[in-house]
Amino acid sequence: MAPHESVVDDVLETVAAVAPDVRGGLPGRRLTEAGVENPSGETVTAADVHADELFFEALGAIDGVVEYASEEREAVADTGDGEPGDGRVAVAIDPLDGSSNLASNNAMGTIVGVADDSLPAAGTELVAAAYVLYGPITTMTVARRGSVTTYVVDGGEMTAVEEDVQLPDEPVVYGFGGRVPDWPDAFHDYAREVETELKLRYGGAMVGDVNQVLSYGGIFAYPALESAPNGKLRLQFEGAPIAKIIEAAGGASSNGEQSLLAVEPTELHQRVPVHVGNTGYVDRLEAALAD
Ligand code: AHG
Repeated sequence: MAPHESVVDDVLETVAAVAPDVRGGLPGRRLTEAGVENPSGETVTAADVHADELFFEALGAIDGVVEYASEEREAVADTGDGEPGDGRVAVAIDPLDGSSNLASNNAMGTIVGVADDSLPAAGTELVAAAYVLYGPITTMTVARRGSVTTYVVDGGEMTAVEEDVQLPDEPVVYGFGGRVPDWPDAFHDYAREVETELKLRYGGAMVGDVNQVLSYGGIFAYPALESAPNGKLRLQFEGAPIAKIIEAAGGASSNGEQSLLAVEPTELHQRVPVHVGNTGYVDRLEAALAD
């Protein structure tokens, strides 16, 4: 057993234990902004701050978690002695992905990456990745040791409901973020083809939209935009962990040129174009953008 495995167990069990408190904290924070911006310049809701505090307290207290970084915090926090590696890990988290969906009472999630290297770390350094989906049911989907398992989270406990999750072979759904006039021409042309083949599903929370792709097959993208060449989503907190899950489920990921797992981070909060889903659709996307 690799030295980090028991601390990864602790991290995943702790995320599951905290998830009901994150969910339980949402009703009272429905329309409340925290009055601050996150390091990416976006408005932070009180629910984002609450979720970040809960995860920081619980994950930072684990022996062996020596770094904690969050989409809501400027810098990496040292939470233990020593550097990641040799059984110590770093945790990167988007505590409440899609929090703008709170106002309309739609899906939200939590995204977690566990690295055995200091943050920012490339996706290849992730030893596990997971997302929690706060839907009608709270579920947690985990990529670890090359395969994906989905759990139901009830009372903070994880119960496996699907092991060796694989993307279905026959893709059904797609969801693309950003405004159509802001899409580069090559992506626009690709999207026009995809919409004749697949059914649109877009809910505005990456975790919910990616979970539709994992359930039904297809492709999710938040592409490069004319106004934002690196798109909207963050490599460390969103792109890399989601890519690890989709690739472990037999799919592919891309920043438009290469796997998101291969993108070397230069900054903790850097953005990246995100495309994940069935390999055929990701390959066609890369070919379309290369033309
Ligand atoms: P936030 O957490 O600030 O609500 O952002 C969510 C992210 C991601 O979950 C989703 O895919 C994307 O933003 C949606 O952006 P649009 O509102 O531009 O569709």
